[in-house]
Amino acid sequence: MKILGIETSCDETAAAVVEDGLRILSNQIASQVELHARYGGIVPEVASRQHTLAIIPIIEQAMAEANVTWSDLDGIAVTMGPGLAGSLLVGVNVAKAIALARGLPITGVNHLEGHIYANWLANHTIDFPIVCLIVSGGHSDLVLMRGHGDYVLLGRTRDDAAGEAFDKAARILGLGYPGGPAIEQAARNGKASIPLPRAWLKGTSDFSFSGIKTALLRLVEGGKVSNKADAAASFQEAVIDVLVAKTVAAAGERRVQQILVAGGVASNGLLRQSLVQKSPIPVLVPEPVLCTDNAAMIAACGYYRFQRGKVDGLDLDVIPSLKLA
Ligand code: KG4
Ligand code: ZN
Repeated sequence: MKILGIETSCDETAAAVVEDGLRILSNQIASQVELHARYGGIVPEVASRQHTLAIIPIIEQAMAEANVTWSDLDGIAVTMGPGLAGSLLVGVNVAKAIALARGLPITGVNHLEGHIYANWLANHTIDFPIVCLIVSGGHSDLVLMRGHGDYVLLGRTRDDAAGEAFDKAARILGLGYPGGPAIEQAARNGKASIPLPRAWLKGTSDFSFSGIKTALLRLVEGGKVSNKADAAASFQEAVIDVLVAKTVAAAGERRVQQILVAGGVASNGLLRQSLVQKSPIPVLVPEPVLCTDNAAMIAACGYYRFQRGKVDGLDLDVIPSLKLA
């Protein structure tokens, strides 16, 4: 079964063709990073206009790379939320137009569920139940996944998402946008020597990252940061300490066999390395290019939705605040 995946929830216009939920035939991404960099963050109106320009060429590129025609496709999977409303609308409406014109079934995919399914593309053998840590620019969720499409929320951030915290810290340190890769890069030349607070929120699987960010801001404003690399390393370590400890604890409590990590922040080398070192059970993480936003993960998730008969009608709409559980 060949699925065309379409993703436009944020600042990447992406299209991919995936076979049987695991073989990537193509994975095309048009990034808007440079367009938004001058503003230090994503400007929603600019994002949706750029999606409109990029979506048709990127779908054509994905079809060409996969060497498929419309008649080779079995369905279309498109991100319906969460994300920016104007951006989501571009992908969903193009997907509906193709579905109508070509008589193809369509399924609306939750972007966060898509991130999880990047792990199926990585050829991992997955044994349910699993604990998933989803860490992106908008979300930091710990979820128990009991089977395909079956989620129980264990914890979430009470303020900033992990990726958002990286982006804000990078701005505070003047390291540029997007912040995650900038902090990771700067941290390579620094030592985690600056003490920053960790919010443990004992007895819960919730996270809080705004305190770490505010502590960093106070130090910078007070002229107490002389070495940006040390500050980046200290910030990165503080965020990752909490993510790792809480994920390992949640997996232990639920007695699962595997931990799965997903979302843009999962491409962070220290997070990947620390989780593997500190977890007594196996940790699965996709390669970095499949952690950040892409359409192959949406197509993989769509395949499992089609398997469960989840076909949407042409009244499919975007849900900008869509939840996973
Ligand atoms: O999943 P994603 O590509 O888009 C959303 O769904 O939000 O995640 C983007 C987030 C951004 O906040 C970015 O700074 C963060 O992931 N990120 C990283 C790294 N690469 C991307 N954070 C830490 N380390 C990285 N290497
Ligand atoms: Zn994402």
